Amino acid sequence: MSKMPESTASEKLVIGNWKMHGSLRSNEVLLRALANGMKAVPPRLKIGVCVPFPYLAQAQALLAGSAIEWGVQDLSSHDEGAYTGEVSAAMVADFGARYAIVGHSERREYHREGAILVAEKAERALEAGLTPIVCVGETAEEREFAFTERVLAAQLSAVLDRLSIEQAASVVLAYEPVWAIGSGSSASVEDVRHVHAFLRGQLLAKGAAVGRIPVLYGGSVKPDNAAALFAVPNVDGGLIGGASLAADQFLPICEACTETPV
Ligand code: 13P
Repeated sequence: MSKMPESTASEKLVIGNWKMHGSLRSNEVLLRALANGMKAVPPRLKIGVCVPFPYLAQAQALLAGSAIEWGVQDLSSHDEGAYTGEVSAAMVADFGARYAIVGHSERREYHREGAILVAEKAERALEAGLTPIVCVGETAEEREFAFTERVLAAQLSAVLDRLSIEQAASVVLAYEPVWAIGSGSSASVEDVRHVHAFLRGQLLAKGAAVGRIPVLYGGSVKPDNAAALFAVPNVDGGLIGGASLAADQFLPICEACTETPV
């Protein structure tokens, strides 16, 4: 890998992915602590939480007017109709949401979501005015066989090929190595540097504006490793799982991101 493009992202983001955690009671404590703890966010830094669908209205009620945005962890690839159990992008947007995670590895693995379906979901999100956070990442086995770049390129190109340049320029990309998620240890700074440079190159190949989209790192980001990860070139913030469930962990991670310039 010879080309190492530097970060040119237009903004930075720290997004919490609550996964299937929470209750009305515990969410209220967490959301209030986040809104109170993050009174002002510097320009060009966005903080958000992606909550389970039933708590979207609660997130809207407690975060509206705060510095923190909200979103969801998935959405339907359909607009509307006879799709039992599905939730459309328009419904999510109705609740003032800004973000929709698509293609998280837990959905690819446990719900057999393929690259085309993920691309369709990203497209639906954009059509509804949401920002899709498109997750890509290799498994431990793929990494072991040196397939990382091939896997990431395939996951990413399925999305980029479906979108116009204007649409693609409104996406947020998240690199989440499957083997680092929930493991307690993040990928190394060196690994992250290489992979993010590779992803930046892939984005630039689609167009200059696409080359400026934020690329987040996710996978065991904690208060004690966030600053080092966010300082890596081409890392424009983080997608945070476990540590987004406690304000005393999530807020310091957000703080670490405010200290790295856009
Ligand atoms: P952890 O931060 O718990 O490793 O989860 C990362 C993740 O999957 C965020 O989407």
